[in-house]
Amino acid sequence: MKKKLKILGIIGNPVSHSLSPLMQNAALSHLKLPYLYMPFPVTNEELPDFFSSLSRRRIAGFNATIPHKQAVIPFLDSLSREARLIGAVNTVVVKGKKPIGKNTDGPGYIRSLEEEAKYNVKGRHVILLGAGGSARAIAVALGLAGAHEVFIINRTAKKAHDLASETGKKFPRTIYTASSLENIDIAYWSLADLLINATSMGMKGVRLWPLPLHKLPKRTIVSDIVYTPLETPLLKKAKQLKLKTHPGWGMLLYQGALAFEMWTGRKAPVSVMKEVLLEALKKSRG
Ligand code: ATR
Repeated sequence: MKKKLKILGIIGNPVSHSLSPLMQNAALSHLKLPYLYMPFPVTNEELPDFFSSLSRRRIAGFNATIPHKQAVIPFLDSLSREARLIGAVNTVVVKGKKPIGKNTDGPGYIRSLEEEAKYNVKGRHVILLGAGGSARAIAVALGLAGAHEVFIINRTAKKAHDLASETGKKFPRTIYTASSLENIDIAYWSLADLLINATSMGMKGVRLWPLPLHKLPKRTIVSDIVYTPLETPLLKKAKQLKLKTHPGWGMLLYQGALAFEMWTGRKAPVSVMKEVLLEALKKSRG
């Protein structure tokens, strides 16, 4: 008798643009695992029904994207340490009938730095641009990974200050400070080991602010979480200055790889996932 497929997927609104089905199905079929990963367009109003349908639909796990990363929390049985610290969930594992909330965004970003840039953030000075959801996940992951200092810079200064003070309370051994984009403390730039753009700056149609990249020491790694275009204006400028770079698709790839490992218990075939992801991103460039 043919074994029934288990279902994985992603909930969001909208969700049709997501590259996760492509990436996850490539990994599942590479390892010949009995799962299918599907996009589930789910509105806020439909969220309770989606959760009550989990066992009927044989859903073994799913990703959550905008606008559900926080909205799913009341429906979950428990949260992992990372999800609790970040205050958002991007991955749900259904164990028995219990949905458990995890967050692989921040840890995925750190794993991407380790794997793609051979870089460990322990003890480092980091400049983090942004104070939205992605920046929050990264700020927490930097604390968990033992960064020495995280200097948060955001267009809206209050959000940078709030994120620095909240995250600083969670990780007393990491120093979190903040400023506005207009008021960048130039002195800090000469200390930075790693600069991360976790804003939408540089995405198609969103201007990159003038940043004093020339003040960064030659050892600095410049990292973007924007992946459309593949070579963002920030990465292009960093390369011109002969600084090392870390690409935006890394976080997308490794948050997916970590989620895959949580659902299937198997090591993610990262090179297979990376190949289909980069192919799709290159095609969508035009
Ligand atoms: P995400 O979940 O991707 O982090 P978000 O929570 O909406 O999305 O956060 C977007 C981030 O990009 C914020 O830091 C935002 O700055 P504000 O807090 O000031 O809004 C930043 N951002 C968006 N558009 C920007 C722009 N044109 N210039 C500078 N920063 C921008």
